[in-house]
Parts: sequence; structure tokens; C-alpha cells
Amino acid sequence: MMDKLLLTQWCNIILYYLRNIAKFAKKYPLKKNSRSNIIEDKTNKNLYTITLNLGKVRSYSKKELVFSKQHTKNKALWQILNCFMSEIDEKFKFNSIFISKNLKCGWHTDKNNIGLSYGLSLGDHQGGGCIIKDENGDENILDYHNYPRQFDGHKLHKTLDYNGERFVLIFYTHK
Ligand SMILES: [Fe+2]
Repeated sequence: MMDKLLLTQWCNIILYYLRNIAKFAKKYPLKKNSRSNIIEDKTNKNLYTITLNLGKVRSYSKKELVFSKQHTKNKALWQILNCFMSEIDEKFKFNSIFISKNLKCGWHTDKNNIGLSYGLSLGDHQGGGCIIKDENGDENILDYHNYPRQFDGHKLHKTLDYNGERFVLIFYTHK
């Protein structure tokens, strides 16, 4: 793992970039999000969510993985995040990054992922870790605020309550 000062600098660069993108992004009312595992966040005053898929997504025909349209518009961010992740864990392979702002997920498993994922949350928020339930029903809290952490998205997990501005990046390999 890189030293603390360098990690802080990286987090600041990425956050600066994400805040700029968020200014111009489409904002979706939380209630109308089509993903069933996304729940309305009553603990948070933010009334909208923003999502961004970088890297590969499944094509409409479902036959192949293709670069998302959002990826094509944000290639520089993709390159920055690839550079960042290679500094964090050079052996970690991924082909997609899911980025969100103001998102809160109920219990779910990640169904389109292969292997482990890395999570990172950025921004001025309190709380908002991820709670993960293992096979025995034991729950563990994963706090990835300003510190990328690896986790298994195939296990049941959900977002803990939080307040404030919360960007989340999930680095993973799309099936
Ligand atoms: Fe998830």
C-alpha cells in the first residue's frame, strides 16, 4: 500500500475530478432509479443520485463486453484511475469502474462481477461504510473512506447510513 501522503494526494485529485463531472452530470431522483437494490436514502438530504460506468459493460445484444458511452466521454478519468489502481495493487485486474454519488444500496450481491472488487469512497461525509454478511451470518463493516479496500461483492452487502457528500468507486471485473 502506498504511503499516507501520496494516497491523500491521489484521493484529492480524483475527488476534484469527480466533483467537476458531477456538476454537469444527469441527476436522477433516488426513488426512480431502475436498480431494485437501490433504496431511497431518508437519512440523507440529497435528493438525487449520479452514476457513471467506466470501462466495459455488456452490450445490448449481451454477446460481448464493450466500452460504455460514458467511458468514451471520460477516458482521461479512466486513465487516471488505472494509474491510481496500479499504484495501490499492481496485481489487481479489472475492466470496469462503477462510480456513484449519493447512492445507498440495500442488501444485495453483485451478480455481474468476477472475483474480488476494490471499493473507495471519497468526499465530505460521515459514516457510509459497507456492511458485509458472511456465510455464517456474521456481519463485518468495511470502511473504505479515502482508503481503497478489497471485498467480495458476491457476499450480501449494503451501505451503512451516512451524511454528506459521498462518491463511491467500485473497481471490478465485469462478467
Ligand atoms: Fe454491490
